[in-house]
Formats: sequence, C-alpha cells, structure tokens
Amino acid sequence: MGLTAAAAAVPGVGFPGVARAATDSSLVFDPAAYTEQTISVTDTVGVAHSVTYRFYKVAGYVAAPVDRAYQSLNVSVPVSVDGTAVDATDAPILFANQVGGYMPSSVANATGIGGAMGPAGTLSRQRLALAAGYVVVEPGARGRSLVDANGVYYGTAPAAIVDLKAAVRYLKFNKGRVPGDTDRIVSSGVSAGGALSALLGASGDSPLYDPYLAEIGAADASDAIFASGDWCPIADLEHSDAAYEWNWGANSLASGATVDATVSADLEAQYTHYLASLGLRARGYGALTVRNLDTYILETFIQPSAAKYLAALTDTARDAYLAAHPFITWSAGRATFTWADFLTHVGPRKKNAPSFDGFDLATPECNLFGAGVTRARHFTQYSLRHESGDSARLDADIPAKLHLMNPMFHLVDKVNPHRAKHWWIRVGTKDSDTSLSVVANLATRLGNLGDDVNTSYYWDGGHGADQDPGDFIAWIAKVSGRKAHGNHGNHGNHGNHGK
Ligand code: DHB
Repeated sequence: MGLTAAAAAVPGVGFPGVARAATDSSLVFDPAAYTEQTISVTDTVGVAHSVTYRFYKVAGYVAAPVDRAYQSLNVSVPVSVDGTAVDATDAPILFANQVGGYMPSSVANATGIGGAMGPAGTLSRQRLALAAGYVVVEPGARGRSLVDANGVYYGTAPAAIVDLKAAVRYLKFNKGRVPGDTDRIVSSGVSAGGALSALLGASGDSPLYDPYLAEIGAADASDAIFASGDWCPIADLEHSDAAYEWNWGANSLASGATVDATVSADLEAQYTHYLASLGLRARGYGALTVRNLDTYILETFIQPSAAKYLAALTDTARDAYLAAHPFITWSAGRATFTWADFLTHVGPRKKNAPSFDGFDLATPECNLFGAGVTRARHFTQYSLRHESGDSARLDADIPAKLHLMNPMFHLVDKVNPHRAKHWWIRVGTKDSDTSLSVVANLATRLGNLGDDVNTSYYWDGGHGADQDPGDFIAWIAKVSGRKAHGNHGNHGNHGNHGK
C-alpha cells in the first residue's frame, strides 16, 4: 500500500483527491496467499457436506483507502466437496455484500467464510454457494454511521456503493489471478444490502461514480456485474415515503395508533405522479397507475405466493390454514382474495409517516444522506419544507446523491446498457419495512427492458426472509451456464413464477 500502516489504520484518515495509479501493485491479487480450511455445510435437504476451501484475505481493494477496516474483502474458493476435487477456476463468483441498515460492514476480522449455518430457512447463502463449487467474495463497505475524529461523516451516500463498485473493479482488474470467472459475478444482498445489490446491478460502469472511485484509488477496470440477487431491497428512497402510504396507508401502527392522516394523504398523493412517470407496462393491465397497481401486484405476485404456499401444504394443514384465514378463496390450485383483506391480514405497519425522510431526522435514511459534519439531512422537499417552511430547498448536492443511490434512476431516467441482465428478486408479503411496490416496480421495469427477471414474493415472509436459498444457487448455474458441483439440495425451481 502507498499508505503507512499507521495512517491507514486511523478511521477517516484518507487522502481524498490523491488517486493512485490504477496499476498500483498493491492491487495485484496474490493467488498463493491463502489458508486452507474445512467446514461442514448443511444443504437445503439437511444433508451435511464436508467442504475444503482456500480462504484469502485481501487487506485493501483500493489503493487510497479511507478506512481499510471496511474497504477490504475476503475470497473463499472451494477445493473439494466430500472428498471430490472441485475446480473453481472458471466458476461463477457470488459477490455477497453484508450490508444491513446502510451501516458500515467489515469483514476485516473474519477468519473464514461468513454466514454460520442456522436452522432450515436461514441457510447461509455464501456457504451453499461454496458447496456448489462457486467462488464467494465477501466485501466490506463503508456505512452511514462512520465518523472521524473531526466529526466528519465518511460513510454516508454514496460511500457504500462506491466501495462495492471498487471491490468489483478489484476482482476484474485481477481477472486470471483471482479464482473464478470475473465475467460471471453475481451480487447478493438483503434489505439495505439488497438495495445496494440492485444498484450495483443497475449502475454498472456508469460514469457518474468515476470521481468517487478515482478518489479512493479504485482499480482501472469495469464495475459491471453479470447478475443481481436482491432480497427485500430498501430502494428508491426518495419515493419511498409516498410508496409506503400508497401501500400501507390504511394500516395502523403496532401500538394501535394511526399515523397523521394529512401527512399520509399528502404523501400518497405524490405517488400518482411518480408511478405514472415510470411508464411501467404489464400484459393484461396496460399502463400501471395508482388505480391498477394494487390489482396488478395482488394478481401477479401476492396471490401466486399464497397459492404456492398452500399447494405445498398437506391437505390437513391446508384445510386448517384456510379455516383460519377465511378471506382466502382456494380453488383449482389458485388463491384469490382482495387487496383490502390482504392488508388486514398483514396487520400493523412497521413505520410511521413519513417512513424514510422522518421529520425528526432519526431514520437510517436521513443519516445516509448526511454529509460533512452533519449527521442527518432531509432528502425530500416534503419533509424539509414540513420542518423548515415552504421556501426551503434541499442542499445542492442531494439530487445527484439520490441518483447515485437509486437503481431506478439507472433503469428509467438514464437507462444503463451496461446493467446486469439477470435478476433474482425476492420479498416477503408481510414485510412492511418498505412498500411492496418497490420490488414490483423494479421487477416490472426490468422486465419491460427485456431483462431476465425471476421474481417471487414469499407468502407471510417477514423482513429478510429467504425461503428458497437452494433455488438461488441453482439459478446461478442456469444463468451463468456453469454447472453447480454435485446436487447439494439445489433441487431446481419448484414453482417460482414471474419467469
Ligand atoms: C434496513 C431496514 C429498514 O427498514 C431501512 O429503512 C433501511 C435498512 C435493513 O434491514 O437493512
């Protein structure tokens, strides 16, 4: 590294503007610098496999790091599974970001692949991928709460996406040295990490990030990725307050309290114009508007989700579920119900109004759009003016930062030809961390653009649910054209719709 160890170790002591030569030898991956480890990976049908892998710690993926605790990554490369050799030279690369809550995420102290195996349903995506013979990269990234000794916030927008792009550039710069096929990078993430995964997919090679990437000495390579897996993405932030009221406006909070009706109605009204501006279309529905979006989402995603759930139950369990949920009509393998009954079934909304640009600046997202020594800022004119009066204007840097953080910008406003063309998009039907229309709009727009989109809503799934981890592994093999090793519970796509 061009930095002294002491300087690099102090959070926030970076050298903005001192971009390193992109061929800085510090960014050359060393294929010999690994430890070998063996772990047990339980597959989706409960069978344990012994997986031996090489674990590489890359101490810095940029030449001019701001904070190497976050701007580092780990690479795990399978060597053998149950004693059978695996050649991962040309394997797909799962690029699994660990971001939650738009907070900083560090892998610097990890001594092996992340994601301990939990009970069924919480299987580790990284470990399943490793057992399938894929290379797994776990990047760290700066996040919103990081603050240096001078009180300067150095992980707010767009730091996290800039870091993830820099990590992709590092891998591509090291094509041929780093194991795996750098032309088959499949990103994954959940929630804020899901939004960043979607953004990574949507914004590949966008020149808008170049100044930020130069500032941290990112390698001179592409940051476009092959495919993007996104679970419950907390995305499209500047429209999420409106989307939330459109979706959950009729629902009460868990306390029983209702949200401010005027605020809710004001925000919901904004959604009409925004949705129309997306120009989404769907077969059988035509142009999607606030008048048909609920029916479209219900029929395209939510009723099929319930049907898949019910079809998988035993007759006895299904009869019991239907008896307990009389709002569902079950006939000939189809589940039908009204949008209003579905909303009642979901129950309390998780967030107050406005849900993202909170009037009190206490939300994660207000912190995400902090800058300099300011911890949190408003990023919508509505919330800003509610607090500061009708002539208040957003800070001048906010609009561009919103674009840098929003996958929809790269799919609608400025359609990016270098975006990922394969998408795996998931959300639970009981997830009210954001509007269920965020996923619907993302998936529908991608479909309208002609991309390969596999979308599914998990029935009664809450925030962060992953009900088909093995199917994702099988999907990676399918879209990448690279066979998965063995068949470790990756037993195909049983019933995913949205193809
Ligand atoms: C996450 C959840 C939220 O509700 C939010 O607003 C931002 C991030 C998360 O779980 O990552």
